[in-house]
Formats: sequence, structure tokens, C-alpha cells
Amino acid sequence: MKAVICTGYGPPEVLQVRSVPDPRPRRNQVCIRLVATSVTASDCIVRGLKLRGRYRLFMRLAFGWRAPRRGIIGMIASGRIESVGRDVKAFKEGDEVFGMDGFRAGAYAEKVCWPATTQLALKPSNLSFEEAAALPYGGLLASFFMHRLKVGVGRRVLIYGASGAIGTSAVQLAKHLGAEVTGVCSTGNVDLVRSLGAAAVIDYTKEDFTRRGD
Ligand SMILES: NC(=O)c1ccc[n+]([C@@H]2O[C@H](COP(=O)([O-])OP(=O)(O)OC[C@H]3O[C@@H](n4cnc5c(N)ncnc54)[C@H](OP(=O)(O)O)[C@@H]3O)[C@@H](O)[C@H]2O)c1
Repeated sequence: MKAVICTGYGPPEVLQVRSVPDPRPRRNQVCIRLVATSVTASDCIVRGLKLRGRYRLFMRLAFGWRAPRRGIIGMIASGRIESVGRDVKAFKEGDEVFGMDGFRAGAYAEKVCWPATTQLALKPSNLSFEEAAALPYGGLLASFFMHRLKVGVGRRVLIYGASGAIGTSAVQLAKHLGAEVTGVCSTGNVDLVRSLGAAAVIDYTKEDFTRRGD
């Protein structure tokens, strides 16, 4: 198969398309033939080693000294199940799925094998593969923090970065859960954030929200 290999830490040019052996699912894994994936903020941090001081050192130790040792980065898959390991019951060949595996990655490729127990679900039929690929990163991260912070009716929530992948999901989830949402973003995204359900939007290019006092 063709895959995008991360040949070192650096700018996008370190990514190179190469031919690599097809992955084969282990007994508890599914093999997904990708139709779409996403380039996430986390991918860019890993690829570019965009961390400071000792965190860079920790990242090299965790991910690989000269380049990510897994070679293929990318944590979002949207596609069809091509084959399943013999212990897999939750998915079958041909299922349309979407999901995220931030630990194993490998989604900058035509195929990826992940455990069936990873954050993977059947794709709703009213979503395209591209739309489905846009959901897991922001949606799952935002959902985690909504639960952790017990966001709900009667809570006032400020979402900093409300127009980004995580922020757009967070605004919609917080609103859905009954909270009163204030979003922070740049001028060009004010209307977008309001349309997602924010009761108030602060343009960070014009106002510092920390000086508001409410
Ligand atoms: N620690 C972790 O494990 C972890 C995991 C995932 C993500 N993250 C971090 O979470 C952040 C959000 O991720 P994302 O995927 O949602 O990123 P994203 O899609 O790139 O969105 C970035 C957001 O930040 C806003 N922004 C940019 N410059 C700003 C500034 N100077 N002041 C205030 N807001 C500014 C953008 O607003 P405009 O576009 O309107 O300018 C946008 O809403 C990123 O920093 C990412 O690295 C951390």
C-alpha cells in the first residue's frame, strides 16, 4: 500500500509518500481501508516536535529520537472495514466506520489496523466519509472535558479557541448540555461560533477576555 512516512521531525516536507507492506489485522484487530483522514493539531505537534525544553526530550523518548518510530502518523480513520481478526465480533467486512486511535496512529495510509476496541463506530449513513473524519478529534476531546467539568444546565462556560476543531465541538456540546456558552475566536469566525450556539462571542483580536470581570 501507499503511506505517508514521517522521515524526521520538522516541517511538512519530512512527510514522504512511500510504498510499504500492507498491514494485517491481529486476532483482536480490524483492518480499515481509509477513504478520508484528518490532519490534527496533535499530528502537527508530533511531526514538528513543537514542544519546549524538557517536553521535547520526553517526546523524543516516547515517540522516537530522530523520527516517530512508528513511521506513519495520523490518528483519524474514516473508511470501510476490509478484514477482521478472528476474535472480532463488533465489526465485519464492509462496515463503514470512523474513529480515532491517538496511541497507535498509522492513519496517513491506505490501510490501518487497530484493535476493534479502539474509539471506533459505525459511520452514520447521512455523513460523508470526509465529514466523519472531521468529527472524532475535536468531538472526543471536547466530550471528555465536558464530562470532566460536569458542564450542564446552570453552568456558564467560556471556550477559548471556540472556532477550532475542539472548540467547535465544545461549543455545540456545551450548548446541547444546557450551559450558557461564551466563545473566544478571531474576527472572521465570530459568526460561525455564534451559529454553533454561543450566547456571546469575544473577538480576541479586539478584546482580552481576562479583563472583562464578569
Ligand atoms: N495537550 C493535549 O493533549 C492536546 C490535545 C489536543 C489538542 N491540544 C491543543 O488544543 C488546542 C486546540 O486544538 P484544535 O485542534 O482545536 O486547534 P485548531 O483547530 O487549530 O484551533 C485553534 C483555535 O485557537 C484559536 N486561536 C489561534 N490563535 C489564537 C490567539 N492568538 N489567541 C486566542 N485564540 C487563538 C483559533 O481561533 P481563530 O481560528 O478564530 O483565530 C482556533 O479557535 C491546540 O493548541 C492543540 O495543540 C492539546
